[in-house]
Amino acid sequence: MSTTLAGATLPNPVMTASGCAANGKELHRFFPVSDLGAFVTKTVMRDPRSGRPTPRMAETSSGMLNSIGLQGPGIDAFCAQDLPWLAAQGARVLVSVAGNTAEEFGEVVQRLVASPAWSCVVGVEANISCPNVANRGLVFACDPASSERVVQIVRTRVPDDVPVFAKLTPDVTDIVSIADAVLRAGADGLTMINTLLGIVIDTDLLRPQLAGVTGGLSGPAVRPVAVRAVWQVTAAMRAGTIPTAPVIGVGGVRTGADALELVAAGASAVQVGTATFNDPSAPRRVLTELEEHVARHGFTRFADIVGVAHERMARL
Ligand SMILES: Cc1cc2nc3c(=O)[nH]c(=O)nc-3n(C[C@H](O)[C@H](O)[C@H](O)COP(=O)(O)O)c2cc1C
Repeated sequence: MSTTLAGATLPNPVMTASGCAANGKELHRFFPVSDLGAFVTKTVMRDPRSGRPTPRMAETSSGMLNSIGLQGPGIDAFCAQDLPWLAAQGARVLVSVAGNTAEEFGEVVQRLVASPAWSCVVGVEANISCPNVANRGLVFACDPASSERVVQIVRTRVPDDVPVFAKLTPDVTDIVSIADAVLRAGADGLTMINTLLGIVIDTDLLRPQLAGVTGGLSGPAVRPVAVRAVWQVTAAMRAGTIPTAPVIGVGGVRTGADALELVAAGASAVQVGTATFNDPSAPRRVLTELEEHVARHGFTRFADIVGVAHERMARL
């Protein structure tokens, strides 16, 4: 069930979602990370970061809120330890990067490309949409001009044969216009969606549960939002109003049927995030289940089922 994403051909369309499986070691105890179409790393920034204050996870009956805030060892430690380990396992790696400024994104990518383990990198995902930063103004993907600037810089620093994906937030008035801006700025594909900004109030203490007050909502509750985002953006591509590019769908995938929804809406690959906390084998299981669904529907080529819901809609 191979899939091609802007020139990167992967043996299957299932990936991890950034930030939900550390950098592979924990997950590798449950299945070989090389089984995945690609392993997506936790977003890596230039300098080591401790993230936002604790508590920074809150469960709700309809999804999970996190305010981890891009905790991580920084790009140099990532290149020295995590990337070589992933390469040694034979994993294909989509590296998620971020910076406090557009120029900092460029610095992170420059160091990444210089890494001796670079050859395992099948793509770079520019996380322009993390909601867990103290200054909401830093969410580049809320503004077309800021998004364009980041994508332009990342695209010029990544070799031409490696695709750049821009990860978008649904917390905008019009996600199609942001998609249009980043694709025109040089993104080869899109990842949709990042978490939605939310707040949980502790009803005993009558104060926000998260120390950082706001957090990113993920899990089953956000799946219809992800399906909607993938649908709207791929519909605009099909209508020729924005450039055509592959889409990676992410948000609330727990089962193969959940993944199939995103694929039928237009995603050429899917990522599994929050489900991994409850079932670390979820990404591998979702792959098997998705394969079964694709076969059950009589498709022999995965590419033929991508966006099929648009075609069936047109025939109504
Ligand atoms: C604990 C946690 C940490 C996350 N960290 C990142 C991150 O570092 N970079 C990023 O782009 N997205 C991050 N995300 C967002 C996920 O990659 C994904 O876009 C989102 O959670 C929706 O998918 P899901 O419902 O399958 O989790 C994080 C999500 C969670 C739950």
